[in-house]
Amino acid sequence: MSHDLRIITNSPSETEELGFKLGRLLKAKGKGMALLYGDLGAGKTVFVKGVASAFGIAKRDIGSASFVIAAEYETSPPFYHIDLYRVEREEDIEALGIWEYMDSEGVAIVEWAERLAVPSAEIYEDAVKVRIDHIDENSREIIIEGVESLE
Ligand SMILES: Nc1ncnc2c1ncn2[C@@H]1O[C@H](COP(=O)(O)OP(=O)(O)OP(=O)(O)O)[C@@H](O)[C@H]1O
Ligand SMILES: [Mg+2]
Repeated sequence: MSHDLRIITNSPSETEELGFKLGRLLKAKGKGMALLYGDLGAGKTVFVKGVASAFGIAKRDIGSASFVIAAEYETSPPFYHIDLYRVEREEDIEALGIWEYMDSEGVAIVEWAERLAVPSAEIYEDAVKVRIDHIDENSREIIIEGVESLE
């Protein structure tokens, strides 16, 4: 049982750097899911850009708008960025089949994981959970559950 990691970041680039460290870990594992929780403007997309950069994906290729619900990147392992902000009904989330992503190789990261009804899936237990909270304009508290260390 790992302890939660609690990190304070004082700029977007620090949040991105933390995301990069998690991305590096997930890439090395080859599969896994990270669930992101936090309000509008908390820094979820900033964090995802960092995670994605560990896969060699350019920051500009990660959407911050929520028009695309799921984007797949043909990296090795494959990387999936899912944003549930605009998804209103649980059935729509089921239809995305995001839990199925996890049966195969690949790493998925989910913004607005609050929208998921907690499934009994073992996958959920295995997922890394990341909560980002505003402290002030440039500072965020980030709690990461499900990893031993990011160094
Ligand atoms: N320490 C910090 N970490 C992350 N972002 C920060 C930090 N300080 C300031 N910011 C700013 O906060 C905003 C975070 O925006 P971002 O799009 O990542 O939020 P989000 O959680 O994805 O929001 P949404 O729910 O709308 O998708 C950016 O404008 C970023 O520059
Ligand atoms: Mg976002």
